[in-house]
Amino acid sequence: MTKSALITGITGQDGSYLAELLIAKGYLVHGLVRRSSSFSTGRIDHLYQDPHRKPSLLLHYGDLTDGQALTNLVLELQPDEIYNLGAQSHVRVSYDQPVYTLQTVGVGALNVLEAARLLNKTKPVRVYQASSSEMYGDVLETPQREQTPFNPQSPYACAKVYAFHQTVNYRRGYDLFASNGILFNHESERRGETFVTRKITRAAGRIKMGLQKKLYLGNLDAKRDWGYAKDYVDAMWRILQHDEPDDFVIATGQTQSVRDFLALVFNHLDLNWEDYVEIDQRYFRPAEVDLLLGDPSKAREKLGWTAATDLKRLAQIMIEHDLELAQREAHLQSFVKSQG
Ligand code: NAP
Ligand code: GDD
Repeated sequence: MTKSALITGITGQDGSYLAELLIAKGYLVHGLVRRSSSFSTGRIDHLYQDPHRKPSLLLHYGDLTDGQALTNLVLELQPDEIYNLGAQSHVRVSYDQPVYTLQTVGVGALNVLEAARLLNKTKPVRVYQASSSEMYGDVLETPQREQTPFNPQSPYACAKVYAFHQTVNYRRGYDLFASNGILFNHESERRGETFVTRKITRAAGRIKMGLQKKLYLGNLDAKRDWGYAKDYVDAMWRILQHDEPDDFVIATGQTQSVRDFLALVFNHLDLNWEDYVEIDQRYFRPAEVDLLLGDPSKAREKLGWTAATDLKRLAQIMIEHDLELAQREAHLQSFVKSQG
């Protein structure tokens, strides 16, 4: 029988890759989409098929903060699996919008769990909660593993810690199949352009094409365990196929600094990053997470999952994509100029 899944955050980086993966596995995928004045489905538009074929992707308007509508939708769709990926996911922005961040990340997760709890009374449902390495904050142990205590450093991280614990509570209290994936940073050519890796690859491509002169960044010393989003959505799926609900660290087990990533990207284009990068205090955070390094042993042993893509390859994928975008932009500019 065809399995069905509901993805919140389907228009985001991870939601788009997860939708692709589930459709390839034969799922009927439902996606929750926020209404906005312009279309937000750019990352998933390619997944629409011939309208005469049986659909594999259906979108529904909704918002994580609207618990009643979310419950109605879940009870109506009766999905086998729910992946809660929706969030105000930018750490720096969470300092400007702490209450909104808590509402989407914390209360939003609770709304998903409540809807699942109600459905679970009549039909089994499995819930994946997108937890984050950001919860380790000012880290109390390195590398970070499932047992490492959380020490959150930002409004975003505090909200994710709340969602993590509610997921565990619903598992214990209501016998709901609810699992946390504690994912370390993962990037791709679909990464939002205000996250540091994509900001760097976009700028490097534009600098190479003469479209931009400088790149303004904050703390270059921060270290992250960066993986490829395509690999990480496979881990999400495996977490829900496991024979019991549990919590898993998903990481590469390698850490590099923002400076290291800059060098990888600019060297790939035969450029020296130091000629272009300037430090701007606006991009520093009130409290920084200095070092993230995950220990993915449990995921390897219990899920058979490992990160397939290293940082060098990831940087290459992203820069090749963004160089092509910059080439198109340069071509368009010269065409416009040539028209007088
Ligand atoms: P993303 O690209 O920022 O996508 C976030 C998604 O959430 C978008 O589809 C967004 O919709 C949606 N959303 C935001 N507010 C919402 C609301 N109130 N109601 C419904 N949907 C809402 O994030 P991502 O990188 O794919 O990450 C996916 C999830 O994993 C997030 O929960 C994030 O916090 C978590 N996570 C990410 C990483 C990482 O390194 N990428 C690591 C650990 C955990 P719009 O398109 O309309 O904005
Ligand atoms: N965004 C950004 N912009 N970050 C910068 C900049 C800049 O100009 N300059 C330096 N950085 C540093 C940040 O201070 C941080 O230490 C690091 O680069 C990574 O920043 P982001 O790419 O914004 O990611 P993040 O680690 O804060 O958060 C991401 O990963 C979390 C998992 O650990 C997000 O995807 C979160 O949603 C996710 O939970």
